[in-house]
Amino acid sequence: MKVTVFGIGYVGLVQAAVLAEVGHDVVCIDVNAERVEKLNQGIIPIYEPGLTPIVTSNFQAGRLRFTTDAAFGVEHGVIQFIAVGTPPDEDGSADLKYVLAVANTIASHMKSHKVVIDKSTVPVGTADKVKKHIEQVLAERGVSLSFDVVSNPEFLKEGAAVADCMRPERIIVGTYNDAPEPLMRELYEPFNRNHDKMIFMDVRSAELTKYAANCMLATKISFMNEMANLAELLGADIEAVRKGIGSDSRIGYHFIYPGCGYGGSCFPKDVQALIRTSEQNGYTPKILQAVEAVNNKQKYKLPTLVKSHFGDDLTGKTFAVWGLSFKPNTDDMREASSRVLLEELWAAGASVQAFDPQAMEETQRIYGVRSDFILSGTKEAALQGADGLIICTEWQQFKAPDFDLVKQQLKQAVIFDGRNLFDPERLKQRGFHYYAIGRGESVK
Ligand code: NAD
Ligand code: UDX
Repeated sequence: MKVTVFGIGYVGLVQAAVLAEVGHDVVCIDVNAERVEKLNQGIIPIYEPGLTPIVTSNFQAGRLRFTTDAAFGVEHGVIQFIAVGTPPDEDGSADLKYVLAVANTIASHMKSHKVVIDKSTVPVGTADKVKKHIEQVLAERGVSLSFDVVSNPEFLKEGAAVADCMRPERIIVGTYNDAPEPLMRELYEPFNRNHDKMIFMDVRSAELTKYAANCMLATKISFMNEMANLAELLGADIEAVRKGIGSDSRIGYHFIYPGCGYGGSCFPKDVQALIRTSEQNGYTPKILQAVEAVNNKQKYKLPTLVKSHFGDDLTGKTFAVWGLSFKPNTDDMREASSRVLLEELWAAGASVQAFDPQAMEETQRIYGVRSDFILSGTKEAALQGADGLIICTEWQQFKAPDFDLVKQQLKQAVIFDGRNLFDPERLKQRGFHYYAIGRGESVK
């Protein structure tokens, strides 16, 4: 099938590559000319495991093309994906300007029937807006053309995006009527082999399904972070509690890992956007407000632990930071907890020596060159002469360090672990002062 994807970010690029991989003929459009040029030179703009080989092979096969030529893109596909960003605006609502700009582009250039699929995460009612917008532009052009608008939210996780798109657990499709169903089934047929994963519903329910899923997951995390904070005060170990409750199949083991707060491009913005949607509809979403508040506070957990150990004034101190990305296997720094940590450490007068396997370039882009910041070439180099080690992201390579070397390199054998990677008892025996999340060493 001929498919066009607007927006070549984390979602658009992965989705486009995966669709090309199964044989669809995909054209990707982006307004970022530099990004398009790089992709045409074989340079992949994001780090995502398994993405480079499928982009490269499908690009070489001519099934995956990148251009800024929107008119060409509209002409190409019957299917027109909108996969552009929906960042928060000033009050936290999802900003729809990029989505509506694409709707405008499609309506301005279309000459035949199109199925416009919204893959971006958008508030309930957006499909209506897209539909109206296209109708208006077509009326202004004085043409009468049929089109469908479909809501087809994306559920991929960064760091596992290719696998998630190749083997989706569900494919949510919101439609106004039955007309788009055969085409949607044909599009996703290669991913829908074992059992029917396609769930058809009305557009508003599809739009809300995406927010409800992300908010439910964020709720689990904030709940566990609250339990972790309580465990510290009560002298309990949250890791034992996690295993204990996870064994109840009604609760399950997924998404109950306490830590230094959730980040990324989705949870913080989507919880905030659903709060705004609720408020705009006269409803006070108390659970969501609490989820957001707990997470905002949790992001200060690591700097608070550091200050409880070293005092509020960190002038002259240097800290090794392992992990900068918001989660492992990505270079994405959007809403990463590490950003709160770095900024708090700097504000208290400390210097930082940081290492991340993938996100150092992005960190450099965000913070530029600073006299109180060194991006170290290895995790060991980050330790040299530091007063303590702080772990923000659970990259595999941080899970079994040479503790003798860590101790030798640090001025003080102290570790602040935002991801509960180690056994507190073992670290104590090795002579470390070990602060983790919900495992003792309480900070009230
Ligand atoms: P992104 O910021 O990585 O990419 C968006 C891309 O759209 C950019 O390359 C930008 O230049 C391009 N763009 C903007 N306006 C355009 C236009 N008029 N025409 C063509 N291209 C345009 O965003 P993302 O992380 O891929 O997220 C996209 C959407 O998918 C968001 O709504 C997000 O909430 C949702 N989503 C993201 C994830 C994720 O893990 N990142 C997962 C599920 C859903
Ligand atoms: C999330 C959703 O999982 C995905 O379905 C949606 O499409 C986009 O948003 P993503 O943000 O890529 O995906 O990563 P995810 O694995 O969900 O982690 C988000 C944040 O939650 C990370 O900062 C992670 O460290 C944190 N997290 C996750 C926890 O703190 N504890 C957990 O148990 C799980």
